[in-house]
Amino acid sequence: MEFTAERIQQALTPRAARYYERVGSTNEVALEWLKMGAPDGAVVIADEQTSGRGRLGRSWQTPPGAALAVSVILHPRVEFVSQITMLGALAIHDTLLRFGVKDSGIKWPNDVQVNGRKICGVLPEAVWDGDRLLGVVLGLGLNVRVDFSGTELETTAISLEAALGRPVNRLELLAGLLDNVDHWYGLLGRPALFEAWKSRLTTLGQMVVVGEVRGLAERVDETGALWVWDGGELRCILAGDVALGTDEHGH
Ligand code: BTN
Repeated sequence: MEFTAERIQQALTPRAARYYERVGSTNEVALEWLKMGAPDGAVVIADEQTSGRGRLGRSWQTPPGAALAVSVILHPRVEFVSQITMLGALAIHDTLLRFGVKDSGIKWPNDVQVNGRKICGVLPEAVWDGDRLLGVVLGLGLNVRVDFSGTELETTAISLEAALGRPVNRLELLAGLLDNVDHWYGLLGRPALFEAWKSRLTTLGQMVVVGEVRGLAERVDETGALWVWDGGELRCILAGDVALGTDEHGH
């Protein structure tokens, strides 16, 4: 079913929601709304993004009618900010499970993958007034029927409908995803959230390469950092892109 402002409003009431047929980036709109005093849980949704933002300064494609591009405005306590990224990955992962996707997992820190291919991206952006946290925008981009064939992402990305082999109602998907965001938001700061994120990570125990660090992905900590054994030294990684590596024996 196509998105319209009425359908979105109806599916998400009483949540405060703004829908755009086409926008630059839902995160950008949500950041402005947050600064103007948006309520907790307010969402910005777009059918198409023309300058979607990805992690680490990259861009993110949201072609019309083919994906979910959602930004949720949250007001967490400052000590739990680092868990927002875990919350996003968990909410997506739960939604995929509920829709029947098998073989999905979280690649550190927050890429949700199906059979090793990225299906979703998570981009939290915090807004500060000096050292006071105004809030966080949690951006979620989920490929529903994006066609990656013939693109450079052909072998590394996947869409939900391709993974399931059946069509998916994007309104139902959106409502389910936001329910899951609410669920994990209620558990922010609790050990259960960290433990769930940790247990769904596919990265731990693997030989990885992250920037200049190469070695065994040993563990994660409550701040979301990844600890990797590199040349006999345990290195702490706060952000980055993980690639699978080989050990000194080429395995
Ligand atoms: C990544 O690089 O993995 C994160 C991608 C996050 C994309 C989503 S789509 C909705 C929201 N608005 C944006 O501009 N980006 C995020």
